[in-house]
Amino acid sequence: MSTICYLNGEFLPLEEARVPVLDRGFIFGDGVYEVIPVFGGRPFRLAPHLSRLARSLEATGIRDPLNPEAWSKLIMTLIERNPFRDLSVYLQITRGVAPRNHAAPKDCQPTLFAMVSPTPAQTEVQPVAVATMADVRWQRCDIKAIALLPNVMARTAAVAAGAYEAVMFRDDLLTEGASSNVFVVVDGVIRTPPHSGHILPGITRDTLVEALAGTADAVQETPITRAEVMTADEIWITSSTRDLVPVETLDGQPVGQGAPGPVYRRVVQRYEAFKQRELAAST
Ligand code: PDD
Repeated sequence: MSTICYLNGEFLPLEEARVPVLDRGFIFGDGVYEVIPVFGGRPFRLAPHLSRLARSLEATGIRDPLNPEAWSKLIMTLIERNPFRDLSVYLQITRGVAPRNHAAPKDCQPTLFAMVSPTPAQTEVQPVAVATMADVRWQRCDIKAIALLPNVMARTAAVAAGAYEAVMFRDDLLTEGASSNVFVVVDGVIRTPPHSGHILPGITRDTLVEALAGTADAVQETPITRAEVMTADEIWITSSTRDLVPVETLDGQPVGQGAPGPVYRRVVQRYEAFKQRELAAST
């Protein structure tokens, strides 16, 4: 089905959108992005997504082409112009078009592109297989950069190994998935790696940490070793496009006593309740 996208001030059918080949996004992967989930026509956690985008732009020195109100308006208009109510909005800003030169020009006009993808109809969440990989990425994984070659290679290798997602380790410590954050349950405690340059500060991750704060299931944000992951009772991955997904096998070996485990079942209910409250409160 054709969707309406946005490119540099214009709404148009996706297949008609064009960018020049000298766009630095195409030449260097010089750009950043966001993926914002929308339920029943309402963006979920819009403010944290827009703050992360502002941080990515700030960190890369790409000019923010819009103010927060204009970002919200663009997202709401894009939702209105498309026929779905459950979707994700993809935003991409590149440094813009310039003669090829690694040094970023001072006065580049950023390229702003946005599109939507419908979310497949909600069915029972299926547990997934994951494959472990070395994390060979850089030290600024906190920037949501469009240059995703290591993530693409890891995820592709995972799929080739019959898995759904890659789970990555740097110096024997868990980092994250190729396009998700990771939670484990070890000795009854829910843990996830702390914020650092080695992971993307996932909005779903942060939302889950917030939703569980002050409860008996409060999350510990601490380094997690490979040995702890390999013997964890439960593992989940989180992302804006799929919320919380339980992991059934790790490198072909079953995780704990089977997925979804009891902690996952409890936590996913709390997350869902938190989400519905927030959506109801958003206008
Ligand atoms: N990816 N880590 C990485 C490397 C990611 O690419 C993503 C999300 C996450 C989860 O972040 P969030 O909860 O904010 O979606 C963690 C998006 C969905 C993507 O690239 O399509």
